[in-house]
Amino acid sequence: MKAFRGEILSVPDDPARAGPEAIRHFADGLLVVEDGLVVACGSHAELANAFATVPVEALSGLIVPGFVDAHVHYPQTDRIASHGEQLLEWLDRHIFPAEQAFADRAHADGVAAFFLDELLRNGTTSALVFATVHAASVDALFDAALARDMRIISGKVLMDLGPPGLSDTPEQGRAESEALIARWRGRGRLGYAVTPRFALTSSDAQLTGAGELLAAHPDALMHTHLSENPGEIAAVAGRFGQAQDYLDVYDRFGLVGPRSVFAHCIHIDARALGRMAQAGAGIAFCPTSNLFLGSGLFDLAGAHRHGIAVGIGTDIGAGTSFSVLHTLGEAYKVCQLRGCSLDPFRALHLATAGGAAVMGIAQRVGGLLSGQEADFVVLDCASTPLLARRTAGADLHDRLFALQMLGDDRAIGAVYLRGRLAHRRD
Ligand code: GUN
Ligand code: ZN
Repeated sequence: MKAFRGEILSVPDDPARAGPEAIRHFADGLLVVEDGLVVACGSHAELANAFATVPVEALSGLIVPGFVDAHVHYPQTDRIASHGEQLLEWLDRHIFPAEQAFADRAHADGVAAFFLDELLRNGTTSALVFATVHAASVDALFDAALARDMRIISGKVLMDLGPPGLSDTPEQGRAESEALIARWRGRGRLGYAVTPRFALTSSDAQLTGAGELLAAHPDALMHTHLSENPGEIAAVAGRFGQAQDYLDVYDRFGLVGPRSVFAHCIHIDARALGRMAQAGAGIAFCPTSNLFLGSGLFDLAGAHRHGIAVGIGTDIGAGTSFSVLHTLGEAYKVCQLRGCSLDPFRALHLATAGGAAVMGIAQRVGGLLSGQEADFVVLDCASTPLLARRTAGADLHDRLFALQMLGDDRAIGAVYLRGRLAHRRD
């Protein structure tokens, strides 16, 4: 057993629904960990006696749960910040050529290692990750995640209508997904997501197979893109004339349920939002990506009104930062433009327990609750001269907001996975 003493903050429930009780803050707190799990988390004064014999490490900074990135593409790491186009042209020009290189396992190993180290440097301890169409790209990511003890959910991308050199077939996609599920089930902190890229890159036969895979594996997620860009949406409407809307395309193939995670969902109406809520599907809000590709402004308040679970996605490589703190800053600005104000405690919830709920791992991570895995980050409010000056003497709400607006990887002092140091800034 081991304990960490310092200022602790977690937001296990959405304060917009649960009220201020959702915020758990201990100015002088104690986080007690045994075998990687939280045994107790509360004020030092209340817990000190019960754990008097446990060795204590003092941490200076603000201890928060490890960040959860609910949508990101590891094979796009090297194409981040590629200039010029909106979604469909950007995919053709920058992304598909980069993903073709993942036919080479050694290349995939190298990018996976860099990608996961970069997540850790930014305080991200759990993520839902797109690989490529190549089954070995998933092996590369899972091997690297296992070596680091990170909580990673991923899957082979299904795309039988992809460009030359980046396409599978319905049979191959199905068989490779089954083999990956069998190979990785129960190992480390890994999980599998059935991953059709989006409606445009899979035939009806492959989408049918994806629905069957999801039904056959109750422990798997379904991860895809939905209603991101007007050109994409027009092409979907042109191909699927019988469907009510883009969401209904996925619904017709059994892909809309409580284990489904849809990235973007920008251009979406009340019918589709109502259906997502009824099905228990989740959304990954990807503000830097949506701004970078000019896709549009996600309506967080609308999703909230419908009761849909929302997490935060960096969506590298359309997203422009690995930093979840920076991504929350951009989320705030998008909400401003949509006429609602994103509270910093709510933002922290979205980036931790909220994302975990979307990914079906809320029992395990996200709230620093007893029984959960002890993944946490020590935030440094003095990581830059400006941040130090802005937060000097500030209250918690003000400090947290300043971290989200001004913070980035420099504000990540240390990262712990299951109570073990995984990254220290210097
Ligand atoms: N839609 C289909 N594929 C992609 C992708 O790689 N990135 C984004 N942002 N949207 C997509
Ligand atoms: Zn994406």
